[in-house]
Amino acid sequence: MQHNFEITSSSGIYSVLIGKDVFSDGLQEVLKKSSTDKAFLLIDENVENHHGDFILTSLQKHFANVEKMTVPQGEESKSVSFWSDVSGFLLQNGVRRNTPLFVAGGGVTGDLGGFAAATTLRGIPLIHIPTSVLAMVDSSIGGKTGINHTTGKNLIGAFYKPEAVIADTRFLDSLPRREWVNGLSEILKYGAIRDDSIFSDAEIFLQEDLSKTDPLALINLIEKCIRIKADIVQKDEYEGNIRAFLNYGHTFAHALEKECRFDSISHGEAVYLGMLAAGWLSIQCGGDLEENKLEKFSSLYSYKITVGQLSTDNLIHHMQADKKRIENHIRFVLLDRWQHPVLKTVKDRELIKQAWSIVLGELHKNKRSSD
Ligand SMILES: NC(=O)c1ccc[n+]([C@@H]2O[C@H](COP(=O)([O-])OP(=O)(O)OC[C@H]3O[C@@H](n4cnc5c(N)ncnc54)[C@H](O)[C@@H]3O)[C@@H](O)[C@H]2O)c1
Repeated sequence: MQHNFEITSSSGIYSVLIGKDVFSDGLQEVLKKSSTDKAFLLIDENVENHHGDFILTSLQKHFANVEKMTVPQGEESKSVSFWSDVSGFLLQNGVRRNTPLFVAGGGVTGDLGGFAAATTLRGIPLIHIPTSVLAMVDSSIGGKTGINHTTGKNLIGAFYKPEAVIADTRFLDSLPRREWVNGLSEILKYGAIRDDSIFSDAEIFLQEDLSKTDPLALINLIEKCIRIKADIVQKDEYEGNIRAFLNYGHTFAHALEKECRFDSISHGEAVYLGMLAAGWLSIQCGGDLEENKLEKFSSLYSYKITVGQLSTDNLIHHMQADKKRIENHIRFVLLDRWQHPVLKTVKDRELIKQAWSIVLGELHKNKRSSD
């Protein structure tokens, strides 16, 4: 049960392998291109607890010398100081231009490790081993790498192509439920902007024990999402136009994450709420979205934040500070219809304020149902 295909980027082609228990086959593929007996492994601490021995011993079968560094879980690891630590770890342990860096973890470890690979010796081979749903369907694909700065998220980074992406769903067996739901938001985003069938495929998330999800249905869904992202990125690698569609819901989400200081809300929770607000705003701007296709997934989300913690003025201020703004106006990805995204600049501050009330209403509803 494995799917193998290639993605073309301006700096070359990389292979993607998806399946259950495909890690060893994926390594063979990578080895065809490797000419060194040394490798580096950067691994998220939770992934190390569950799968560290397996990943390390698998690598050691192929590389005589594997140097490992553990990344503390959480967004704080995507920092300038931690990136400097990772670069130091590589340089002090004899990295060469052909020494591969394997990066095992969610989007945090992937973005950090990707940026370290892009910048150390002006670029070393990078192999992504995504271990969260979000990393499999989104962050390991498309070549964006980066870290946060004290002034904002993802403000320092580089486009950098991996050599390969090995998405082995065996790693998801240990993923906490909240993280499955976190990844679901990006899956639903692909449904909203590109492929309506994803809304029904994603119903596999509506079951109690997500680690028992039908493996083939899950692999097919992950592949569908990766192919959509790859297709969009191949057409617009450096986000000149349509790559921005991948940010559906994200203008709201980034403001929400910033207001919550990146700790009391996950990226995926913020994206789900952001898509609700963007859907409402789409309708106000003339969009025809009769049915709310996101609603059936609402009960899966359980937010730690409450309405009282949020100030709409602050949230709008954060949106205006977003790196993707045009002058002082806020640009949104909206939908003319489901699967028909458009970029629109909204100047009416009152309308944006009302869109935020959709988010506040959802939080209120969520709080009441958990009381
Ligand atoms: N580069 C891109 O194109 C891109 C796209 C989307 C998001 N991102 C970035 O990705 C990050 C979010 O990624 P994420 O949601 O994967 O977060 P994450 O990397 O913080 O992982 C989420 C949590 O799951 C744990 N975890 C991961 N895999 C596990 C496993 N198999 N078993 C047990 N625990 C596991 C981690 O330790 C962490 O606690 C953000 O920083 C975001 O900016 C990047």
